[in-house]
Amino acid sequence: MKNKIDFTQIDIAGEAPIAEPQRQYYFIAKAKEYVESQAAELGRPLTFCVTTFGCQMNARDSEKLAGILELIGYTEETEEDKADFVIYNTCTVRENANTRVYGRLGQLNRIKQQKKHMMIALCGCMMQEPEVVEKLKKSYRFVDLIFGTHNIFKFAELIVTRFQSERMVIDIWKDTDKIVEDLPSERKYTFKSGVNIMFGCNNFCSYCIVPYVRGRERSRSPRDIVREIESLVADGVVEVMLLGQNVNSYGKNLDEPLTFAELLREIEKIEGLERIRFMTSHPKDLSGELIEVMAESKKICPHLHLPIQSGSSRILQKMNRRYTKEHYLELVDKIRRAVPDISLTTDIIVGFPGETEEDFEETMDVVRKVRFDSAFTFIYSKRTGTPAAVMDEQVPADVIKTRFDRLLKEVQAISSEVCSVHEGTVQRVLVEGINDHDSSLVTGRMGNNLLVHFPGGKELVGRLVDVYLSEAKGFYYMGHLAENYQS
Ligand code: 5AD
Ligand code: SF4
Repeated sequence: MKNKIDFTQIDIAGEAPIAEPQRQYYFIAKAKEYVESQAAELGRPLTFCVTTFGCQMNARDSEKLAGILELIGYTEETEEDKADFVIYNTCTVRENANTRVYGRLGQLNRIKQQKKHMMIALCGCMMQEPEVVEKLKKSYRFVDLIFGTHNIFKFAELIVTRFQSERMVIDIWKDTDKIVEDLPSERKYTFKSGVNIMFGCNNFCSYCIVPYVRGRERSRSPRDIVREIESLVADGVVEVMLLGQNVNSYGKNLDEPLTFAELLREIEKIEGLERIRFMTSHPKDLSGELIEVMAESKKICPHLHLPIQSGSSRILQKMNRRYTKEHYLELVDKIRRAVPDISLTTDIIVGFPGETEEDFEETMDVVRKVRFDSAFTFIYSKRTGTPAAVMDEQVPADVIKTRFDRLLKEVQAISSEVCSVHEGTVQRVLVEGINDHDSSLVTGRMGNNLLVHFPGGKELVGRLVDVYLSEAKGFYYMGHLAENYQS
């Protein structure tokens, strides 16, 4: 997408256009001028580093940031301590993510003192919290640019503002109904890509800060989504991950409403696209229609990430999740009947306010009944501004820690059993890259999201091949190419 526009044709001496994305193209061309003159002064090309905290949504946003930085002349991505432009795309779902950002900023300050032209930018969910911005304004004056989750599309414009003003630039929007299409973006992988289908969340789970920092639910139009995927496929992509906080409520607020299942049917038709993944699904909105589409589809991977959060119906109610333990278990049964080889993964929070030993045992019970392929386990983190933060009976830290360890042990034991059942079978995998530890091996991902390492070279990267799984190693496999594999 980034190569389609000839930035040299943009008249940067004139006024900035009002309409998007043309306005941003203008600022990209303008920023490029500043960066080129800096590079000439230093006698070398400038570099950048984008650090992503948090979820897949942030990872996708970071690709957009990297795309813009490359276009304005930061030619190469490098390590943080060497880069001329450093940006942190932050997360605030749990407190420890915030603590890490402050810690790393201290280090960046020391680096910047040796390198005055260095730019430091912060964006993402944490910046949507007013207390955070106050703290940064007071104690982290060396930061150049701060923006939030709603105006990421304005990155180039904000960089120009910073170049022109020589002072810290802050631009945070409370919410937006705007979706800007056709911005440049850089992809981490040539053969797979995340695709946003919606932004924001309307659920207000009582522990969660996301609805406050990501705003209300907004769906992209199906035409824009299909067009983006078609152009990705033309560019070599074979697998897409459809992204949204709650993909099951996709399309409800469109002018012409469309369900998520209907959107999937449209995407399935795209020729050349081989695999479709999506996340995250909220159990309360997972429809029978979606299960049907998954069962019929040749392209949707047999993997469902279905966060349960707690196995206690009493706690689920306090969490405002709007389903019960029984409803969740029935849903799992229904999905397994329709898609027998489905891999199920989940998120679980331990130590939500008021969680008793009995409540926790209900969670353990669900874990034993469902036998998840894997589960992400989190210690409850109190987020200021959420209803749960002011609930009585916060659970003592030592009790939470003991429960968390018990849960993790159970989850891991089950997961390693469940994940081993494919030993001795042949599976279709998408080869994602050369193995990190042994360069004679490549690493491929199966439809169910498990990894397999097997002998092979870089010519296999980005290809779908059949692999024999010779040995289960708990959470991954060792294997070799099946005899008559087809590319
Ligand atoms: N504390 C702990 N975990 C949380 N999550 C969201 N908010 C909190 C919180 N305050 C977890 C949920 C969600 C995942 C992305 O993060 O399990 O599904
Ligand atoms: Fe947070 Fe609940 Fe929305 Fe997920 S569905 S982002 S947990 S409020």
